[in-house]
Amino acid sequence: MSINQEDVLTALRTVQDPDLHKDIVSLGFVKDVRIVDGAVDFTIELTTPACPVRDEMKAEAERKIAALPGVTAARAKMTAEVRARGGFGRQAVPGIRNIVAVGAGKGGVGKTTTAVNLAVALALKGARVGLMDTDVYGPNVPQMLGVTDQPRVSGEKRIVPPEAHGIKAISMGMLVPPDQPVIWRGPMLHGAVQQFMRDVEWGELDYLVVDLPPGTGDVSLSMAQSVPVAGAVVVTTPQGVSVSDVRKAVAMFRQLNIPVLGAIENMSYFVCGHCQERTEIFGHGGGAKMAEDLGIPFLGEVPIDTRVRSGGDEGAPIVVAAPEAPAAQAFIDLAGRVAAQVSIQAMRVLKVIQTA
Ligand SMILES: Nc1ncnc2c1ncn2[C@@H]1O[C@H](COP(=O)(O)OP(=O)(O)OP(=O)(O)O)[C@@H](O)[C@H]1O
Ligand SMILES: [Mg+2]
Repeated sequence: MSINQEDVLTALRTVQDPDLHKDIVSLGFVKDVRIVDGAVDFTIELTTPACPVRDEMKAEAERKIAALPGVTAARAKMTAEVRARGGFGRQAVPGIRNIVAVGAGKGGVGKTTTAVNLAVALALKGARVGLMDTDVYGPNVPQMLGVTDQPRVSGEKRIVPPEAHGIKAISMGMLVPPDQPVIWRGPMLHGAVQQFMRDVEWGELDYLVVDLPPGTGDVSLSMAQSVPVAGAVVVTTPQGVSVSDVRKAVAMFRQLNIPVLGAIENMSYFVCGHCQERTEIFGHGGGAKMAEDLGIPFLGEVPIDTRVRSGGDEGAPIVVAAPEAPAAQAFIDLAGRVAAQVSIQAMRVLKVIQTA
């Protein structure tokens, strides 16, 4: 008995995307089915190279095809094409498919650390990534990435962002001389954000990660008004004060029509390097509980690890400096979950799926 294209597609209709809650054939992921003497080759084109279930999906699809009568071999090639989020009337930035903001109300909870490691982890998974530091008073991104170069200006008078650890980065810290105090008013901030979006030569980006300053407000408003933002990741620590600030940040993003992609709890716990005892310095579980209360996805917990801090100080983010460390793994998992949430938002806007 010989197998045909329709048999293959019927079998692949039983493979679900767990995030999009639909089968991979209806989602249009299955491409180039080729059958030669019972050997079946096909491509599964995911919506992100950072898909957390990529390997499981490949294995399931191959297993199901291999089980069909008459099949001698089943090979799935996994590719990805990141979809752009629709504009909603706001002018999209050419070349930038998804803008992901990282923020929270509270200072010092690890927003920049999260933004930097998220951006680098997405790039490690094969995505094209940019990072934009919008903190004019404490621009930490250049140091955390180890970027000392000034951005160049191209022939077309556009700003060429320096690259580090596989991502393109731009920061107020690169444009404003250090130790020179600058007082920024709302409209100036708006202008700077606009310039960073439109006058920087980002090229083609799957994700532009935007590090928000503490207190959010002006920059978030400026972004929300001018460009389509795929979503925001909120960072909290377990303490009650931090959690309540994040609640306010979530309310603000919702008011600005920026989808909240989820919350991450940073400095969640500390594991002693000598006795491996786990200490919950700031308490535990505040982030998960808050996420549940607010109806937003919980994206994970990052432990306190001195390597997170030293990596930041030395310009080698922990996801590259010590990828096996639990804190690095937490950021790498975060990248997968954020990419999945961005895909969900994009597919909803494109009406490929109705609900999450
Ligand atoms: N999980 C962690 N373990 C150890 N140190 C951490 C961790 N997360 C962040 N840090 C350290 O805490 C400090 C503050 O982090 P970071 O600058 O990312 O916070 P922030 O929220 O961006 O601050 P700001 O509000 O000033 O922008 C940094 O020195 C950073 O290295
Ligand atoms: Mg910061």
